[in-house]
Amino acid sequence: MRTMRRMGTMGVVAVVLLAACDSGDIADKVYTVDEKGYTVKMTARMSGLSEWEGSDYTLAVAGFTSESKFALLQKALPSSAEDGTPVSLVLSNLSSEVQTVELALTNSLRKRIITLASINMADYADRSAHDTILLDLGTLDAGRFGILQTGILNRACIQCHGASGRSAAGLNLTEGNAQANLVDVPSARREGYLRVESGNAEGSLLHLILREGGENLLAHNHTEILSSQFKTNLEEVEELIDNWIEHLTP
Ligand code: HEC
Repeated sequence: MRTMRRMGTMGVVAVVLLAACDSGDIADKVYTVDEKGYTVKMTARMSGLSEWEGSDYTLAVAGFTSESKFALLQKALPSSAEDGTPVSLVLSNLSSEVQTVELALTNSLRKRIITLASINMADYADRSAHDTILLDLGTLDAGRFGILQTGILNRACIQCHGASGRSAAGLNLTEGNAQANLVDVPSARREGYLRVESGNAEGSLLHLILREGGENLLAHNHTEILSSQFKTNLEEVEELIDNWIEHLTP
């Protein structure tokens, strides 16, 4: 139940705004339909965007085809946006090749690292091309840890760690608890390890249990949990977790 509620607050509310009926001349209309693809407008109040400044990662609204991990087109969110101020971004001229429009972290090659919210363009196939699809994301922590929480922990971990009232190994990974439960906290299951050791990804239990070779470190196979959830971007997700750990200062 808690999981459903969480998805409800962080999930996507996509609403189609029908453009006001165009009573204007026909030439205008023909031009609009032929030249323009779909338009998606994303709005949100975000914090933490500045944490990505100068990094290899970009938080962007991006259009993906079904064939590629690389965005066909994307627009970066302004990393200068002040925390909590409303941000809105318009992605237009989306061709029919674009299958999903996502709020995603991408790298410098526009490769998808992780998706935070997504709309399926097929759901809007019957709309005329000049409608604007609104993607309202509410409030979102878009900093290093916020993205980990929304993109990874909420999706793959909290069902056993905190959301249903039980926290396996005494580890609560729900929002507002996860950092304090992970960072520089001794493992309850493997003596000599910290769950996450600030600045040292490779020495952290979290890194080890999620990677190949870590299947048997715990009584529960976490390598498989991660690989079953992130089938097409496993390596990217592993690197993102390491990137977060490396940026923690001891
Ligand atoms: C299906 C249930 C389940 C899911 C999903 C799950 N875990 Fe676990 N987790 C466990 C269990 C059970 C243990 C304790 C294993 C043991 O006793 O050896 C554990 C232990 C851990 C530990 C070690 C804690 C310690 O103090 O030693 C970490 C770290 C951890 N999980 C992180 C995660 C992360 C991150 C995710 C999501 C990617 C996740 N878990 C998803 C069940 C789960």
